Amino acid sequence: MAAVEIEGRVKVRTRPLSAGDIPSLVEIEQASFASPWTAGMLAGEVDTRFGWGRVAVDAADTVMGFVIGRRYPDMWHLMDLAVAGEHRRRGIGRVLVSEFVAAADAAERAVLLEVREGNAEAVALYESEGFTSLSVRKRYYADTGEDALVMVREVGGTRLAERQDRLSGPLLAIESSCDDTAAAVLTAGGRVLSSIGHSQDAIHERYGGVVPEVASRAHVERMSAVVKEALREAGCRLDEVRGIAATVGPGLIGALLVGVQTAKAIAWSRRLPFFPVNHLHGHLAATWLADPGAPVPMVTLIASGGHTMLVRVDDRTTFRLLGETLDDAAGEAFDKGARLLGLGYPGGRELDLLAEQGDATHYDFPIGLRRSDRLDFSFSGVKTALYYLLREMSAKERKANAADIAASYRQAIVDALVDKTGRAASQESVRSIAVTGGVAANSLLRRRLDEEGKKAGLHVILPPLGYCTDNAAMIGAAALAGPCLEYPDYIDLDASASLPLGRWSTDGSGPDLSLND
Ligand code: KG4
Ligand code: ZN
Repeated sequence: MAAVEIEGRVKVRTRPLSAGDIPSLVEIEQASFASPWTAGMLAGEVDTRFGWGRVAVDAADTVMGFVIGRRYPDMWHLMDLAVAGEHRRRGIGRVLVSEFVAAADAAERAVLLEVREGNAEAVALYESEGFTSLSVRKRYYADTGEDALVMVREVGGTRLAERQDRLSGPLLAIESSCDDTAAAVLTAGGRVLSSIGHSQDAIHERYGGVVPEVASRAHVERMSAVVKEALREAGCRLDEVRGIAATVGPGLIGALLVGVQTAKAIAWSRRLPFFPVNHLHGHLAATWLADPGAPVPMVTLIASGGHTMLVRVDDRTTFRLLGETLDDAAGEAFDKGARLLGLGYPGGRELDLLAEQGDATHYDFPIGLRRSDRLDFSFSGVKTALYYLLREMSAKERKANAADIAASYRQAIVDALVDKTGRAASQESVRSIAVTGGVAANSLLRRRLDEEGKKAGLHVILPPLGYCTDNAAMIGAAALAGPCLEYPDYIDLDASASLPLGRWSTDGSGPDLSLND
């Protein structure tokens, strides 16, 4: 039993949480929170093998407050902290938090937590215990719709360090989240030795879109060959590889599983560490692959067939979602527009080429949220407008005006992307802007971001296209700045179709490797 003296008068003793404390905890929960944890949830925390809980008690062993955390293999998570109303403002919360972080320090683990953004008192307490804000998780609390502030505390209270020192040799990285089967080999220091990708565009062309089941099968058929080719080109034997990385989400679940299972099988059979990678973290990593010395903070626009988001990046492990599309992704808007115009699949590139020959001022396409201060996007209206425009035209008119239509349509999408990126950059007072994802191939978007960025005195990063479209080099680069699971801790880690930026696994059987959002 630990006893801590507060302000020279009140003595707080703490002891480990036990099942018998649950009724008292339920009472404190109910008095403290709008959505209190239930007895069942609390009992689950006592039972889980990851659990860590302590209660603060008075002289009669009455529970005054408690802290509950989880000891995940990679980092600890502070899950719940509450103090009974009559005992608040006596430093009991601080005693409990410091005991938790001291235990995490002793285990050499960082600590992560989420706190209501409006709870200034709690945020200040955590800050004073060495936590720093990483990011905001939008509308995290279902009861009030409030945002959660994600905070992290490095071992000893310092920031997350880069993880490159954990690898003693090359890293093999695998990407299979959508329709590209890709593998890459990187040195432990992050230099790309090879990056091989096999695109399934030709397979999905006849369907006019990615068919998940077909994509999974194609990954299965090609994965081994792509991995072998990446090793061959890197001049590296499999037995020289010292770590394996794979995209664990977000993406098509069947497609992801092919890469995750391949990677886990190689790692397991050779007793190597496994590096789970969030695909979006991978897209962010394209910028430091292309321009490792770019000044931070930066705003990175991720624009692909599946995602459109603006992210503030402070360093390779610290980032925050600023805004995202509320409906279609920018690449999807390009592809759907191309389809309406009768161009090929995926049509973004064709539409871009056609637009180069057209007059962008000829038609006026609407873009949702353009005038809103929000850093979100909406692209569902623009394709509807295109549909109605084309419906009113004869086949001959459509053909005659195709280039002007494509140019005006492209301009509307690019305007929205450039405008919000610029706003985000000035709002966040960053030093660089960057674009990544397949839509970064768009020639107008590249020109405009370059012009606008330079005009605003910003450093502009336009990574080579090979790092913008889905590839495994970016997955390897993100792996080196993300969590690492030693053999055999990753064996029950699963792929996850919907994994938000900043997470490496969802709740469930696998370890929860949330670093930030
Ligand atoms: O990142 P990516 O290869 O795959 C996804 O994760 O989605 O992005 C593919 C997307 C497609 O929607 C494609 O049409 C679009 O990027 N894209 C373009 C251009 N080249 C590819 N969109 C606009 N202009 C381009 N030049
Ligand atoms: Zn992607």
